[in-house]
Amino acid sequence: PRCIWLSRHGESAFNLTGKIGGDSDLSARGREYARQLPQLVKMSVGDRPLTVWTSTLKRTQQTAKYLPYRQLTWKALDELDAGQCDGLTYEEIENRYPDDFAARDENKYEYRYPGGESYRDVVVRLEPIIMELERQENIMIVTHQAVLRCIYAYFMNVSQDQSPWMEVPLHTLIKLEPKAYGTEVIRIKADI
Ligand code: F6P
Repeated sequence: PRCIWLSRHGESAFNLTGKIGGDSDLSARGREYARQLPQLVKMSVGDRPLTVWTSTLKRTQQTAKYLPYRQLTWKALDELDAGQCDGLTYEEIENRYPDDFAARDENKYEYRYPGGESYRDVVVRLEPIIMELERQENIMIVTHQAVLRCIYAYFMNVSQDQSPWMEVPLHTLIKLEPKAYGTEVIRIKADI
C-alpha cells in the first residue's frame, strides 16, 4: 500500500530567532537533522521506491539534500506568505500591527497578512499538489509548518479550517498510510 511521508525542514536560522517566513539557511541542529534524515527515512520506507518533493526555499532543499531519491521542487509548497510581516517575530508584529495581530488571533484560518496569504489561500494553492499526490505512489514531502498543517488536515479528514491547529513539530518524520476507514499515522522523532 502506498504511503506519504511528511517532514518540516530542519531548524533554520529564522526558527532560532523566532522570525517568520524568509529564506534562511539551516542552523547547526537543522543540519544535523538533514544528516540523520536518510537513516530515519530508510527505516520507515525500506526498499520501496520514493520521490521527494521540496519547496523552492533553501531550508527544505538543505534538509533533503542527503536523501538518495529523485527530487522535485514545487513553488506551491513554499511557506505561507506573511507579506509585510515577513522577517518579523510575533512580538514585533504585535507591537507594529496590533490590529492585525488581534485579527489573526480572532480567525487564524481566514486572516490574510497584508500583501501575503491566509491559511485558506494556502489550501487553495495546494489543490494541484493534493491532486497529484492522490495519483502518485510513495511520496515524501519536505516543506513548511503552515503548508504541512493543511496537507495533514486533508489526509486526516479534518475540516480544512482546523488546519492552523494541527501539530507538526520540527525534527519529526510523519508517515501517513491512507486506508479505507481513515489514515493511519506514525510519528518518528529524530534524536537531536
Ligand atoms: O515560524 C515558522 C513558520 O513556518 C513561519 O514561517 C510561518 O509564518 C509560521 O511558522 C506559520 O505558523 P503560524 O500559522 O502558527 O504562525
